[in-house]
Parts: sequence; structure tokens; C-alpha cells
Amino acid sequence: MKITADELRTKYLTFFQSKGHTLISGASLIPENDPTVLFTTAGMHPLVPYLMGKQEHPAGTRLTDVQKCVRTGDIDEVGDSAHLTFFEMLGNWSLNDYFKKEAINWSYEFLTQQLGFSPDQLSVTVFKGEDGIPADEEAVEIWKGLGIPDERIYRLPREDNWWGPAGETGPCGPDTEMFIDTGKEKCGPDCRPGCHCGKYIEIWNDVFMQYNKNEEGKFVPLGRHNVDTGMGVERTICMMNGLDTVYDTDVFQPIMAKIKELSGKTEFVGDEVRSSRVVADHMRTSTFILGDQKGGVTPGNIGANYVLRRLIRSAVRHARKLGIAPGFTEKMACVIIDEYKHVYPELEQNRERVISELLQEESRFSKTLDEGKREFDKCISGIQRKNDFMASKDPAYVKDTTISGKQAFKLYDTYGYPLEMTVELAAEIGFTVDVDGYNEAFKKHQELSRANVGSAKSGLAEHSEETTALHTATHLLHAALKQVLGEHCNQKGSNITAERLRFDFTHGEKMTPEQIKAVEDLVNEQIKKDIKITREMMTIEEAKEAGATALFAAKYGEQVSVYTMGDFSKEVCTGPHLEHTGDMGVFKIKKEESSSAGVRRIKAVLQK
Ligand code: ALA
Repeated sequence: MKITADELRTKYLTFFQSKGHTLISGASLIPENDPTVLFTTAGMHPLVPYLMGKQEHPAGTRLTDVQKCVRTGDIDEVGDSAHLTFFEMLGNWSLNDYFKKEAINWSYEFLTQQLGFSPDQLSVTVFKGEDGIPADEEAVEIWKGLGIPDERIYRLPREDNWWGPAGETGPCGPDTEMFIDTGKEKCGPDCRPGCHCGKYIEIWNDVFMQYNKNEEGKFVPLGRHNVDTGMGVERTICMMNGLDTVYDTDVFQPIMAKIKELSGKTEFVGDEVRSSRVVADHMRTSTFILGDQKGGVTPGNIGANYVLRRLIRSAVRHARKLGIAPGFTEKMACVIIDEYKHVYPELEQNRERVISELLQEESRFSKTLDEGKREFDKCISGIQRKNDFMASKDPAYVKDTTISGKQAFKLYDTYGYPLEMTVELAAEIGFTVDVDGYNEAFKKHQELSRANVGSAKSGLAEHSEETTALHTATHLLHAALKQVLGEHCNQKGSNITAERLRFDFTHGEKMTPEQIKAVEDLVNEQIKKDIKITREMMTIEEAKEAGATALFAAKYGEQVSVYTMGDFSKEVCTGPHLEHTGDMGVFKIKKEESSSAGVRRIKAVLQK
């Protein structure tokens, strides 16, 4: 069946309204009250309090909506046939109302009767059970009852068939995912739904949110049977129209057409295909972030701001590769706003802001690129001059065509010129780059800068014995707050003088005297235990894997130091710290007050 995105949204919302669901508006892309996620990644974020049963939803217990989502975890896969950093998700919700039988039956009815997919094209996955949580045999039986044969029902582990929580704690549960078989050959004997080769495309997920992940990381029954489903708009229309990629769908057509027009090309070939898709995807995502009803996110160097900067800069780079002239971000944004404003009126309302932020960031980055290009040219002429000179002395001289690691690093460090650009430009003129040398220079530089700026980064005024002890106490305090008040207590700021520590953290309420006492006791207990403090170097990814708290933005692959204090605390930090917790004195909280909305401030001392 041929269908447009508008038709799909209407069909879906009408279908679920006919099943007793109330249409509610989708939420902002900037999550409310959840410092653990940068963007809304699914429709459930704004509904967490209702899924938890803390509040009744004013629109009832059956809801349906379309939600804007940003997921940047797969950013490097953008450019293949199905990955996007922004997408629209259609959802139907049961807030402790109907459960698996109705959810699966309606999904099946909608897919086969409303959208016209053949039941033969459908493969499904279900949770196979793990960690004491049983396999979802109920879902298996419901699918079988609908005629899906056992060989197309895949039982998979938590990694594949569990959804949530959206942040670190909250509602979650086993899910059943629906895939369309594109009819392509399997990529190997292990090819199955969930494989990335493109044979099976996931279009819908029904999550049975009957668990809560608590602050200790345990999955406990929620005592409620919620349903959260998510159908990807772009992927579904791609499959329904028999298209090869999401970029061929109607929502992308005006965007791709504009990229062609601006580049003066009628077809893209080779690497240009990926570049055009990156420009399309990243410009769409950036336009939606900047045009969000809540606003607030502008290009910058940390968190969500950094993600936005990275998206825009990457779009600029790929646009240049396609020969697109400066100022294109405005033209792209206009096409995107016009395309979507009837569904997302906030885009039109924020048109000016979107355009001015895009143009500013484009021009900032273009300047960087131009300066870098001049430096690059200088570096090449230097090598060529040397070659000419050597060749005039020795006719057998083999010309040097390598940009040294040091030169490439200077381009990056001083001119912000990404290594990838240097490598590409070099290749165009038959040069190569010493990438290993670049990595070495990068590392050396980091070690030096860590030694120099360590104090500033760690919030220390000076490295006296007192401040070092207070810094170590800060880590213990951070971990203790998480234990007493919850995992949501994240560091927002820290300042240490020789006399006291000051620590800001996310928490919505004033601490009670009992909580303050519990935190003090916990910290003092660790001091008494005289725990040995260890420091290890690892990449930021390894640190997170090891469960370390990491609050500042680190580049992918960056080496960081992780300080561990027994089982009590593990944090990415530049140090310095004591060697043992024992010689610190008695920890005492002097003041607990509000710092700003949702952030508390503690002042504490170590009494000798
Ligand atoms: N929250 C579920 C998902 O995003 C529906 O897949």
C-alpha cells in the first residue's frame, strides 16, 4: 500500500481512538526533570509519573500520541538505509488498563488490516527470560493464536527484548518487537530479527511495563500492568511503500531535492550518497532541536548543546564535500520547517531562532575550516619545497608525501581541523597522514593538559593537604547522597577551599535532618574503614562500563582516570586524592540549601 507520513499518522491515531484511546499531544524534545538523559528518546519520558502510578493522567488510562524523538547513540550509523538521529514515534498506551492480549491483537490488526502487511512478512521477537524474570510465554501464545508460526517467533535475551527505563531508574519491562522481512537474502546462518544487515526492519515495539528498575539497579514488580508501544513513522512508510531507504520516503523527498539543487548535482554517487544522507538527517534533527517548544538548547561544548554542535558541524562538513555553498543551513531549515509545520507548529513559531542559530554556528565552523585549510596548504607547500630542494641535490630522492602526526595534530588543536578532514584533503592530492603519530601527539597533549588544568577541572583552589582531603570527601559525599536519596543525585558543581567543600547536586527537595545525618554517618563510616584509594586509566567508555560516575563531557575514546574507593565510590576525575580515606577527620554537613531549581547545595567540613 502506498502511504504518506500524514496518512500514517492519521490512520494510527484514528485506529487507536476507535479502541477507546484519547489523543494527547507529544512532548518537548528536551526532557523535563530528568538530568540523566539529554533528549526525549521515546514517548514514555513525559508519561513516567503515570506509568509509575504516582498520578492519574487527566486524559484517562488509554492514550495515543505521536512523539518527536532524538537518539544519537547510533549517530555513526547515519547514512545507511534505516538509522536516523531524529524520528517520529507513534504510540498507544495503557496506564494499568489493558495488557498483552489487547496490545498484541491491536498491533496485528493494525499492521495487517489497516496497513495491509501480509502476515507472512511478519517476524516477531519476545523476551526469553533472564535473571529470575520468566520468559514471556504469554506473548508467544498470543502470537501463535494469531497464526504466526513458531519459527517466526524469536525468543531473545534482555539485550534485545527489554525496554526501559528511560533514565537510570523507573518503569520498564519485557517487550515484543515486530519486524518486516524485506525478502532480502539472510546475511549468514545467524541472521535474525535484530541483525543489522537490512533483511529485517523493526517497525513496532510493544513494551509491557510491569517492572520498576530501582535505585539499586534491581528489577522489581511495579504492581501495575502498563503498555507502552512505539511505531517508527519513517521506517513504517519506507516498508509500506517498498522503498530501499528511509531517505526515499515522502518526508525526505523535499529535503533530498534541496540538497541536490544546492549541490548542483542530479545524482549522488559513491561517498556522496552517505554525505547527502548525513546532511538530510542532521539538518532535520538540528532544526527540530532548535525549533523545540521549550527552546534552550543552542550549540555549545557540553551535554545536549554539544550534541547539537556536533550535528550541525558534521552537516556543514558533508555539505562542503558535496560542493554546497555557505549559508545552506538556512535553506535546509526552511524546507524542513515548511514540510513539518502543520504537524509541529512550534517550528514555524521558532523559525527565526532556528535560522539565526544555524547560520551563526555554520559561519563559526566555516571560519575554522577556512583557517585550517590555509594552514593545511602551508604545510603541503612546506613539504613540496623540501622535496624540490632535495630532488635538485639528489635526482634519486624519493619525495615525501606524508603529513606528520605532529602537523595533523597542530591542525586539529590550533585550528579545530578534524583529523578526518586532513586525511581526506591529503588523499585528494596523493598525500597520506601519519595517523599513529597523530594519536600519539593527541595523548601526550592530554597528559600535559591534565597535569596543568587538573586543579581547575576538579574544582580545587589549590592542592594543599586540606583541599585534597576535602576533594576525597566530595566523592564520598556524592556516593552517599546517591545511596541515601537516590541515583538521581548528580553533581552539578563543586568548589573547595582549604576550609570547606561546597557541593551542588540535582535533587528536588530539602533534605530532612534524618537524611543529613544518614549521609554524614555513611561518609564517616567510609573514613573509619580507611579504604585504599586506587587510580586507573581507561577510556571513557570503559569507565562507564565499569560503573564509574562520569559527569563532564569526554570525547569518544578519550583516556580518563577513574578513582575507586572500595565498593563505595567510583568516579571519573582528574584528582588529586588521598591514598587512604583514613586520615581525613570527621565529616560534618554545615549547611544544606537550595542552589537553583531542582539543585541543592551542601557545605561541609572535615573536623580534626
Ligand atoms: N518505548 C518503546 C520504544 O521506544 C516503545 O521502543
